[in-house]
Amino acid sequence: AIKFFQLNTGAKIPSVGLGTWQADPGVVAKAITTAIEVGYRHIDCAEAYKNQAEIGSALKKLFEDGVVKREELWITSKLWFIHWPVSMKRGTGEFKAENLDHPNIPSTWKALEALYDSGKAKAIGVSNFSSKKLQDLLDIARIPPAVNQVELHPGWQQAKLHAFCASKGIHLSGYSPLGSPGVLKSDILKNPIVKEIAEKLGKTTGQVALRWGIQAGHSVLPKSTNEARIKENFDVFDWIG
Ligand code: A2P
Repeated sequence: AIKFFQLNTGAKIPSVGLGTWQADPGVVAKAITTAIEVGYRHIDCAEAYKNQAEIGSALKKLFEDGVVKREELWITSKLWFIHWPVSMKRGTGEFKAENLDHPNIPSTWKALEALYDSGKAKAIGVSNFSSKKLQDLLDIARIPPAVNQVELHPGWQQAKLHAFCASKGIHLSGYSPLGSPGVLKSDILKNPIVKEIAEKLGKTTGQVALRWGIQAGHSVLPKSTNEARIKENFDVFDWIG
């Protein structure tokens, strides 16, 4: 399977990244360290996950100890103003319907373009954008988005968005690639078809779900803070296909 995907900026994004949503402070540092040690070179973060300081400290230690170099890593972060295509009404904090407002995407995107121009970001992208919102963005963008990150797994295949992104050269990255069994309570890992394929191949259902994403051309961002599952989720490259 492919270890990297090339973005429209020329940068290469590793096909498996460690998800860090719901990776609590106190355990996330160990998860990051384990992941880097077993070969992950891509970490998916966000300001809203409230654990970036601990992730930063863990990475700093790995750099100082010579385990990995900064330039070998792909680190995604999301500023709250572009994490979802919504903004919050002034003075509200909680992410619920009555607090949401229409964001000013053109001015937000200009700020991200300035970040790209400065060299501080190798690529800029969006998250949770529909095809329509992406088209609206493409209509005004000087630098087109390199990535759109959305929920994506065998139970939510996003066929229309996949085709749209492919036609525009936007890489589609999948969060909750296992269907987020812990939080969203989906049953992808118990799906009979996924199970049958896993039994046939001698792999776990999680590995089959991840390979489905990679073979469809998506980077996948499984979250785990468990050592065995962090390893399992990265062990998806050495089989045929
Ligand atoms: P844990 O952190 O204890 O491993 P997703 O990335 O789709 O949101 O899924 C993350 C959830 O699935 C977490 O609850 C995580 O728990 C669990 N998980 C991660 N990897 C696996 C796996 N290979 N098999 C089963 N559950 C997993």
